[in-house]
Amino acid sequence: MVTAAADTLEGAVRPAPALSTGTIDIALLGLGRVGSAVARAVLDTPSSGSARLRITGALIRYPERRRDVRLPASCLLTDAAEIFARRPRVVVEVLGGIEPARTLVRQALESGIPVVTANKSLVAAHGDELRRIAARSGAPFLCEATVIAGVPFLGTLSRRPRAAAVTCIRGIVNGTSNYLLTQMTATRTLAAALAEAARLGLSEPDPRNDVLGVDAAEKLSVLLQHLGWGRVAPHALDVRGIDGVQASDIDAARDLGGVIKPVILAERSVDAVTAFVGPAFVPLTDRLASVDGSENALALRNGYGELFYSGPGAGPQATAATVLDDVFEAATADGGRLESRSDAPRLSAIEPGAPVTAWFVRLTAAEKLPPAADIADLLGSFGIWLQRSSSLPATRQDACGFLTLPVERARLDSAIGALTAAARCHASVYRALEG
Ligand code: HSE
Repeated sequence: MVTAAADTLEGAVRPAPALSTGTIDIALLGLGRVGSAVARAVLDTPSSGSARLRITGALIRYPERRRDVRLPASCLLTDAAEIFARRPRVVVEVLGGIEPARTLVRQALESGIPVVTANKSLVAAHGDELRRIAARSGAPFLCEATVIAGVPFLGTLSRRPRAAAVTCIRGIVNGTSNYLLTQMTATRTLAAALAEAARLGLSEPDPRNDVLGVDAAEKLSVLLQHLGWGRVAPHALDVRGIDGVQASDIDAARDLGGVIKPVILAERSVDAVTAFVGPAFVPLTDRLASVDGSENALALRNGYGELFYSGPGAGPQATAATVLDDVFEAATADGGRLESRSDAPRLSAIEPGAPVTAWFVRLTAAEKLPPAADIADLLGSFGIWLQRSSSLPATRQDACGFLTLPVERARLDSAIGALTAAARCHASVYRALEG
């Protein structure tokens, strides 16, 4: 039930037993989908425990907009100065985008006010700067909800440099695109699945950011910073969208023992990084292959094995829960310990290189494909060798799929160009994760 008080709204959440935090006044910067979910979570949670949250103000852009959480008019403010004048103990930034979020977060941190944010665009673009300001002022800056919103792991890695000494990152970090590809079948189009994802509150306000890989690229960029690899702008990564994936590509991948998943990949050597964001062939034997729907997962290889985190990656409720846990941490934490640390040396500049990798290729022809042996011969003349190909049933010679052995993209592109010209066919090409 939503309740309203005169100037502030109160609800209570159950903190970890040892914490005694009294009332934590929070200012919400933004009252959109995530901001409203945070406000609802504050208001709806039954009163228990010693720590109480109180919303002292919510910064909004459009006072006339209808919202699905009811805050008293005195809480809804369009002027950020008024928000800060109410002296919140923690600022929660859920505006999304870069400005005015960056300016307001800087202002809060410079004044020593802890900040919790769920804004991956902001952290991807300015995380380093904001962490520096936080370290100087001693104000915690927490962003657990920016990557796999419902699964707390960034904070743990911050405190554990040996676990965080990661050399390979593989994951599915965009719930919407994973949901779309899981839902896509011959009869269910991307557009229909996208409408459902929006209804479930999974997709971004501009769903192109999900479909075109922008959201996943921002999350990879946040991870690279957080793990201490260094800073790489999302647009500097090799990013591909899932918009070109056909249901028939998914079927063909299954014929070869895999699925198409929207992945992020990054690998580091001593001084270089290879990174990729986009749809890829994932063998069914890989743990990522069974991460379906809006679930997310992250596999981090470190010196002693592979850590595997999985759980809800999107949705207002999961995000709000993580944000509120961050609020408690921020209100009680020592800011210094929140700086990302890893035993791995920080790379001074990251220039994602072109990796040598296996590829999944699906060929379709308007009429008939050449015999499989001819296709293999042509690819072989470019130095490309097949590890597996789908058998071509007699009745269906207009399509085939194959997996190559590792080869660089440029060489594959030349071979595919020659093949599609000679055989008058179309090729869909996906990076393939190693089995
Ligand atoms: N649109 C994002 C996703 C929301 O689908 O993963 C969570 O960051």
